[in-house]
Amino acid sequence: MGKILVTGGAGFIGSHTCVELLERGKEIVVVDNFVNSTPKALEAVREITGREFEFYECDLRDRAGVERIFCENEISAAIHFAGLKAVGESVQKPRLYYDNNLGSTLGLLEAMERHGVKKLIFSSSATVYGEKNAAPYREEMETGGTTNPYGTTKWMIERMLADECAADPAWGVVLLRYFNPIGAHPSGLLREDPNGIPNNLMPYIVRVAQGKLPYLNVFGGDYPTPDGTGVRDYIHVCDLAAGHGKALDWLETHRGVEAFNLGTGKGSSVLEVLHAYERASGREVPYRVAPRRAGDLAVSYADCSKAQKLLGWRAQFSLDDMCRDTFHAG
Ligand code: NAD
Ligand code: UFG
Repeated sequence: MGKILVTGGAGFIGSHTCVELLERGKEIVVVDNFVNSTPKALEAVREITGREFEFYECDLRDRAGVERIFCENEISAAIHFAGLKAVGESVQKPRLYYDNNLGSTLGLLEAMERHGVKKLIFSSSATVYGEKNAAPYREEMETGGTTNPYGTTKWMIERMLADECAADPAWGVVLLRYFNPIGAHPSGLLREDPNGIPNNLMPYIVRVAQGKLPYLNVFGGDYPTPDGTGVRDYIHVCDLAAGHGKALDWLETHRGVEAFNLGTGKGSSVLEVLHAYERASGREVPYRVAPRRAGDLAVSYADCSKAQKLLGWRAQFSLDDMCRDTFHAG
């Protein structure tokens, strides 16, 4: 059994998945260019697991750099987290997103092909279900109709990988469609820590609770939901990490392309998340209802029965657990 290559392994989901893989006894090799992370996360992975692993600071678009990783390591499969993910930035700088997200995937696929590595897990997103489908989202729904370049890169990469599998039946690809990952490792050593003012709900709530921002803008109070605020399927990042372990097991015995939703199957509103964080932290989180944010859906949550049935995976942690671990990680 060779090593698992983890691209973007210093990032939020990647670092938690590195912990999961090392704790399952896997050998890993990590590549990241730190465009949205720091070496601190990798130190935390070593501290939590007490295990060592190879790391390469390299941009996946650097063909020679990626080739070196494959020459120096016996790799049996790759988990591809590396990519840019800020929806708003992708609207402002579309070429950056197409270049980085598509370019890094092409670079990775070429190296994998050259070295006969044909097992891949790709970090996709609920965003591929677009605006036309209604929750709960099921994997067989037609994808597309994405509303921003970030989402379009995910949709295009899913297509690219499906085409690769159609052309060469030796490939095995799992597309994992994440819903809204939050939470942190229970040790408190790993967390999501975006630079600048956060775009996403949970890191924003944390900054408000810490007194670093004055209040949360709740984007929209007039959605057709029980309390009028947007509903999402929040999932603990450690549950997500465990899903990658199960997907690797699946690839031991399956070829072709298969998509799986990773969510809890349960939607929570913005105000439910805010109040859950208040309970977990014992702090008040002031908020104001603001206009809707462009491009936001009213409701998004997963049908998770496929992952449960075929991968034997289901989320274990509740919203209260997610808030407790987020608070504990600071
Ligand atoms: P993240 O930004 O914390 O992690 C991504 C990592 O990839 C970072 O460490 C970054 O430095 C690295 N990276 C980016 N471009 C690179 C390149 N060209 N070469 C090498 N490294 C590169 O993001 P995350 O939240 O951990 O997300 C991981 C993956 O999951 C991404 O592909 C993201 O689009 C996808 N995803 C995330 C969410 C979410 O809400 N967090 C939801 C759905 C899908
Ligand atoms: N929200 C607020 N105030 C904020 C931030 C968010 O009210 O300051 C609300 C949003 O309107 C939404 C909910 O909180 O109702 C969650 O918003 P996030 O930005 O945390 O997450 P999104 O569901 O908008 O986006 C996430 C990922 C994207 C991905 C998308 C669909 O961040 O990468 O899910 O999969 F494309």
